[in-house]
Amino acid sequence: MTTLKRISTAIKYTPPPEAMPGHKPLPPFKPIPPNGLALTPPMGWNSWNKFAGRIDDKTVREIADAMVTSGMRDAGYVYVNIDDTWEGERAADGALQTNSKFPDMKGLADYVHAKGLKLGIYSGPGYKTCAGFEGSYLHEEQDARTWAMWGIDYLKYDWCSASAVYHRDDMQPAYQKLALALRATGRPIIFSLCQYGWLNVGEWGAAAGGNLWRTTGDISDRWDSMSRIGFGQNGREKYAGPGHWNDPDMLEIGNGGMTDTEYRTHMSLWSILAAPLLAGNDVRVMTAAARDIMNNREVIAIDQDKLGQQGFRVRQDGDLEVWKKPLADGVAVGLFNRGSATAQIKVTWAEIGIDKSNPIVRDLWEHKDVQSPNEFSAEVPSHGAVMLKVK
Ligand code: GLA
Repeated sequence: MTTLKRISTAIKYTPPPEAMPGHKPLPPFKPIPPNGLALTPPMGWNSWNKFAGRIDDKTVREIADAMVTSGMRDAGYVYVNIDDTWEGERAADGALQTNSKFPDMKGLADYVHAKGLKLGIYSGPGYKTCAGFEGSYLHEEQDARTWAMWGIDYLKYDWCSASAVYHRDDMQPAYQKLALALRATGRPIIFSLCQYGWLNVGEWGAAAGGNLWRTTGDISDRWDSMSRIGFGQNGREKYAGPGHWNDPDMLEIGNGGMTDTEYRTHMSLWSILAAPLLAGNDVRVMTAAARDIMNNREVIAIDQDKLGQQGFRVRQDGDLEVWKKPLADGVAVGLFNRGSATAQIKVTWAEIGIDKSNPIVRDLWEHKDVQSPNEFSAEVPSHGAVMLKVK
């Protein structure tokens, strides 16, 4: 927390030239206690990766239906999150309204809630969102009340144009301001920070009231993007825990730019990382393979383990990596092959900290127990993963 102190005390406010009329200095940053939400990494769906600006009320309702019929809700994916482009103009009293794609947000929330799901929404501390829609700048408390009134359960708050009205050092108080506004509504709302990992957000994201914070720029549906982000998370495990998670961005599983082998690696890696599992595909029309990858309950259980410890790399031999994630009742192990040819990867129980031989070993993609007294070795395909639970 030393960095946090250094940054927060370094705040010296001078409004940038672009500051809007009515601009006010932010209240100073003071760490706030946890809100008690997201004791395991949030799970659900988000509209951005697949739909970007083409998201509307009808599609969200159909996705909610499909979350139920696909079995995703029952596997734990409960948040249905609308990303950018739902916002309309402000009313005369300043209240933020939806645009014509979302004629009745409260009605939509009621619909989603009736399915046993929750509804998420998106905004940012700037005057415009990343897609150029209305942001929450100078309307933070009012917007929080509007969302609570609609029945919103999750907010992603994206920095974007805030750089035009705030200094970098204002980032912590700007996020905290919204966290406090959400809490003042009395409604439990998960608070997701999106500022691409700037200013070492892991050091202060939880103290600013965040339940999760993005650690990187945007993911895309390609092996190089997913693997660079996923394998690049090593070292951030010290910041994650129940109620406050590193967010390496939403899933791309089922969007078509990677093979099923690569999507299994995506799911394995995100689960080892205790990352939020937010599907980013068109759940209405996904393949059985995409559905089965995201619905693998043995892998989901690793992500959702109640110890809440993010995994980390144990060993790297060129393109071959061994990761582990301590669990409440054992250890999860990931064997990853980032290379372009099939390779043998071996792990000994000693190197993952299990000193007894003959542990119970379960292969979480094969769904079977494995006899392996002292070590385990497998052929792992190019870009593939093997995931084990050892106890
Ligand atoms: C940023 C975020 C994305 C998405 C878009 C929406 O790029 O990082 O996840 O929310 O904005 O405009």
